[in-house]
Amino acid sequence: MGLGATAILFCMLLDPVFLQTLEQQDLPTVAGIPSLNMKFDSWRMELSWDCKENTTYLECVMIHKDKGPIEITPQEKECHCKFSDYSLHDGVTLMVKVNSTQRPIPETLVYTNAGGEGTAAQNFSCFIYNANFMNCSWAKGQAAPDDVQYFLYIRDSRKKRERECPCYIEDSGTHVGCHLEDLSGLASYNYFLVNGTSQGTGIQFFDSVLSWKKIGSSRLKGYSRRFHASKTNG
Ligand SMILES: *[C@@H]1O[C@H](CO)[C@@H](O)[C@H](O)[C@H]1NC(C)=O
Ligand SMILES: *[C@@H]1O[C@H](CO)[C@@H](O)[C@H](O)[C@H]1NC(C)=O
Ligand SMILES: *[C@@H]1O[C@H](CO)[C@@H](O)[C@H](O)[C@H]1NC(C)=O
Ligand SMILES: *[C@@H]1O[C@H](CO)[C@@H](O)[C@H](O)[C@H]1NC(C)=O
Ligand SMILES: *[C@@H]1O[C@H](CO)[C@@H](O)[C@H](O)[C@H]1NC(C)=O
Repeated sequence: MGLGATAILFCMLLDPVFLQTLEQQDLPTVAGIPSLNMKFDSWRMELSWDCKENTTYLECVMIHKDKGPIEITPQEKECHCKFSDYSLHDGVTLMVKVNSTQRPIPETLVYTNAGGEGTAAQNFSCFIYNANFMNCSWAKGQAAPDDVQYFLYIRDSRKKRERECPCYIEDSGTHVGCHLEDLSGLASYNYFLVNGTSQGTGIQFFDSVLSWKKIGSSRLKGYSRRFHASKTNG
């Protein structure tokens, strides 16, 4: 009991530490194209490239395993495209179509989930209870090394508020869940990312876009409702 109370207090102290500006993360393996030097910021879902004089960019495309091709027309003279939230853990192919005299020529970047196969957090799910508490949980990947540590980041779909989990639930020192007591700033859709570290192996990430809408009514009624993220849904 005494231990539990200490843990909760610690969580509350950490809770206001929201990450307004997350540091530029290391971008996972990218097979770039030299001419446009495309870059993909997976946290911001932003594709950018070197602007070239006298070149018009017709279209950005993200080819997603489940959602198919997602197309965006960049603003004139702009050399970036911002996609809305999609899960990226299965990898995506990104293209920029460049205007040329004959036809649009696509340049391609393959974004992969770097790290050892089976090292990502699995069986990720979250549920809301007591109106405004949320617990998320996940399991260690079956191929994850003993020293693996996981981290959960949550961002609302308007990309206004992002935070790391303020209070992890641990199993023998490994983060296997998260307890949140402040759900403000979460939108109807939110992007969840569980990434990880280990001394020896690269750890793959798991990510998911989860809808709040469904839980809205159950929140009012005050009972909890579980929503799962499987490997295959958005
Ligand atoms: C871009 O177009 C202008 C006007 O057509 C031309 O003078 C210039 O040399 C072109 N620049 C390049 C790098 O092709
Ligand atoms: C882009 O394509 C359009 C239509 O094919 C063409 O009229 C225009 O000159 C092209 N612009 C450049 C910069 O190549
Ligand atoms: C993950 O979920 C699957 C399917 O429900 C289950 O068979 C498996 O035991 C779970 N793994 C862990 C580590 O909880
Ligand atoms: C949520 O997680 C907290 C922290 O581990 C725990 O005290 C609480 O019992 C959990 N709530 C439910 C409903 O599982
Ligand atoms: C996990 O993702 C967050 C958000 O993009 C990033 O700030 C952090 O550095 C990443 N951590 C690891 C271990 O990759």
